Amino acid sequence: MLELEGVNAFYDQSHILHDIGFSMEEGGRVAILGRNGAGKTTLLKSIMNAGPRVQGGIRFKSRALANASPDERARLGLAFVPEDRRVFGHLTSYENLKIAQYGASPEREKVPIDDLIGRFPMLVPLRNRPGSQMSGGQQQMLAVARGIAARPHIMLLDEPTEGLAPVIVAELAHEVAACCRDYGIGLLLAEQSIWFSRQCTERVLVIDTGRIVFSGSWQDFDENAERVQRHLAI
Ligand SMILES: Nc1ncnc2c1ncn2[C@@H]1O[C@H](COP(=O)(O)OP(=O)(O)OP(=O)(O)O)[C@@H](O)[C@H]1O
Ligand SMILES: [Mg+2]
Repeated sequence: MLELEGVNAFYDQSHILHDIGFSMEEGGRVAILGRNGAGKTTLLKSIMNAGPRVQGGIRFKSRALANASPDERARLGLAFVPEDRRVFGHLTSYENLKIAQYGASPEREKVPIDDLIGRFPMLVPLRNRPGSQMSGGQQQMLAVARGIAARPHIMLLDEPTEGLAPVIVAELAHEVAACCRDYGIGLLLAEQSIWFSRQCTERVLVIDTGRIVFSGSWQDFDENAERVQRHLAI
């Protein structure tokens, strides 16, 4: 479904990602762990063509993405949920979710918006509230739901737990895992929370200064805990 081979990414003269290679099956759920500045966001943006200059091969649905624009990638079935949320302040929750379906993959059956809202208890009372009148945590929840509303083949989710209260993190983990399963959405999740990542994914990549230093199942992760933790410790 998604394959990266020999991917290098740059901001101007800074070489950020080095020889990244991995692949994801249809419906696969993979976490990218790494400390601050490791290159998690750069990796998601490279897949989306949304910032860094990228060299190397990225294939999606057996097609080389080469210079496809971010909106072309969205229509092919990739949805990027950035860490700064970018909820539309003048639109309600319902409208924010609805608008996500316009630029999405046309071949996928639409997720009914009210069903989707119903899955996120926190969003139910916010259905008709403009984004500008929501707290940071509420906007965060809405941004994730908006990624799901597009029903992508793969959702690229960037640190959704940042700044959320623990009880909300638990609710979000439950909803993300359930929605991915029920709507057939693959997940590539950049996170620092091991707990959250474990709830939502089946495989882990660890990156350190732009290189993949570990790749495996959560069981492999636990069996190599000491070695892996060195790359995550601050
Ligand atoms: N727009 C940019 N221009 C130049 N350098 C950048 C830019 N964005 C990120 N970098 C650099 O790229 C490296 C990787 O950053 P990136 O944001 O991908 O890390 P991250 O793993 O997402 O970190 P965090 O957990 O803090 O979000 C860092 O050294 C960062 O300073
Ligand atoms: Mg980041």
